[in-house]
Amino acid sequence: MNNYLEIILFVTVFFIVGSAAYGATVGAPWVPTKREVIKRALQAVKLKNTDTIYDLGSGNGSLLFEAARKYPQCRAIGLELFILPYLYARLRKSLARKRYHRVKFLYRDLFLFNISDADVVFVFLMPGCYKRLVKKFRRELNDHCRVIIEAWPFADIEPLAVIGKNSDHLPLYLYHGRQFREDKNIKKSG
Ligand SMILES: C[S@@+](CC[C@H](N)C(=O)[O-])C[C@H]1O[C@@H](n2cnc3c(N)ncnc32)[C@H](O)[C@@H]1O
Repeated sequence: MNNYLEIILFVTVFFIVGSAAYGATVGAPWVPTKREVIKRALQAVKLKNTDTIYDLGSGNGSLLFEAARKYPQCRAIGLELFILPYLYARLRKSLARKRYHRVKFLYRDLFLFNISDADVVFVFLMPGCYKRLVKKFRRELNDHCRVIIEAWPFADIEPLAVIGKNSDHLPLYLYHGRQFREDKNIKKSG
């Protein structure tokens, strides 16, 4: 019996550590976005009730919960690979199911999930994965999709706006989907 418990414990710990490590390697480690930054991001993208918003690496789901509180009719989809914050977000949603009925959390790799129905995309990932991300955006985003990036801008694509650069929090960078297809950006970003 003890042997079974040890195996279950080992597999559980392996899965938790593995999921955190994989996310950290291909995208970014889990670092929650601050409340103030979430408020600014939602203002910057001028979120509407008719929008579909994605959080790529949604962590504990805070951004999407805030979006749903302010705009209850918007569709909010979070993609996350680290099992602990993902389960926390699922639990939080199920405790207030009515309020968050348009919010969905999926245990998926953001690079393998099609987001072509997005009106708004939020990203807080490490620049190491930007080349792959830019390729994905070029293929999938519509011209008018608003993309808001926390912390680090794309190297060769000029943001339409920079928000909170001189504040105590990480800055935000705003882009539109069409920018990922413009010739001058394609040549440089690969
Ligand atoms: C900097 S954190 C963002 C946290 C989130 N904004 C919050 O407030 O909790 C980046 C998240 O992206 C997740 N992640 C990294 N690569 C991913 C991938 N390929 N697919 C899905 N999630 C990924 C990580 O597990 C991590 O939780």
